[in-house]
Amino acid sequence: MQIAQRLTRIPPYLFMELRKKIAKAKAEGIDVISLAIGDPVEPTPESIIKELCRTAYDPENHRYPTDEEKGMFAFREEVARWYKERYGVTLDPANEVLGLIGSKEGCHHFILARVNPGDIVLMTDPGYPAYRASILMGGGEPYSMPILPETGYLPIFEDIPADVVKKATAMFLNYPNNPTGACANRDFFRRAVDFAKKNDIAICYDNPYSEVVFDSQERLSILSVEGAKEVAVELNSLSKPYNMTGWRIGMASGNPELIAGISKVKENTDSGIFNAVQFAGIHALRSETSNIEHMLRIYKARRELVLGTLKKIGIEFNPPKGTFYLWVPTPNGMSSIDFTNRLFEKTAVVVAAGTAYGKFGEGFIRISLTVPDARLKEAMARIEREFA
Ligand SMILES: Cc1ncc(COP(=O)(O)O)c(C=O)c1O
Repeated sequence: MQIAQRLTRIPPYLFMELRKKIAKAKAEGIDVISLAIGDPVEPTPESIIKELCRTAYDPENHRYPTDEEKGMFAFREEVARWYKERYGVTLDPANEVLGLIGSKEGCHHFILARVNPGDIVLMTDPGYPAYRASILMGGGEPYSMPILPETGYLPIFEDIPADVVKKATAMFLNYPNNPTGACANRDFFRRAVDFAKKNDIAICYDNPYSEVVFDSQERLSILSVEGAKEVAVELNSLSKPYNMTGWRIGMASGNPELIAGISKVKENTDSGIFNAVQFAGIHALRSETSNIEHMLRIYKARRELVLGTLKKIGIEFNPPKGTFYLWVPTPNGMSSIDFTNRLFEKTAVVVAAGTAYGKFGEGFIRISLTVPDARLKEAMARIEREFA
């Protein structure tokens, strides 16, 4: 069977490869601990599950969720309220908010809504691998902006060649950043918005970790700076703050033309989110703030445990303040892959090699804190035993 050319330039999805590696080792009887994947293990709060069950019994909710094209109005209203409360951002639920099947889906549909074949799309390196795949599937050309520790992992727009800027029509930004954990600030948002306005570039600000920040780091939305809605759409998600990765629910907010474009793609592709999931989402946004605080306490303790172990084996660094990942420099100038393999061989602990996120990820590994405490402790004990 011939497969479409648009797929041939897309590298295999990192986590699928990792899952295969882990499954193989487990089949050989090895007690593998994976710190590679960012997927909370704690369950979704019970009250959200109850709301799903309650609303799943209503036959009205068994029908296509398409009577309102941008998602249920009550869900969009709740998103607008949440954005006001959490980020001080005012959104019109009628035309500035759209329900999504997770922010990953939003990234893909943003490209289909905005990018013409041959357009350049700016993204960061290292960066979330799905951006590149979405750009390529949409016929765009990815251009990588390096993000490095010395510039706080923020891109330098002035370094992008003028001919690239001229052909660029869109840009992905993501802070708190996967994989580096870096956070942005309002000054950076202003520079990004100015750059985008000046060059007619639409920003897709992918913000699913907006709530996962530590040590007095402010929670931020790019939409909180003046003029952002003229050029930006922000994606967010219930996946991480409410432990709902499997539920597939998120939202896009901001520029009304981009929202309408993404909505048009969705109407013709997926027909929206199961209504009962949207009701559960409303409940989460309205009533489960305490889960966010609870998860932050858990991640903070795990961060400290990992940082303490790394220190004992001679890896010391100043970790950025966001996400549930730690972006860790490899010891003694080892390559990302060599260190990842060495860790696996000696301890059966799997981490993600920095180069899986782009060539500027060389010299780093990414450790995810979304594993049960006992397993993380066991992983750290093994690492300390082998490397201290
Ligand atoms: C940067 C980034 N964007 C989007 C996603 C996908 O989130 P969702 O579950 O909302 O689709 C992830 C998940 O790991 C991510 O790291």
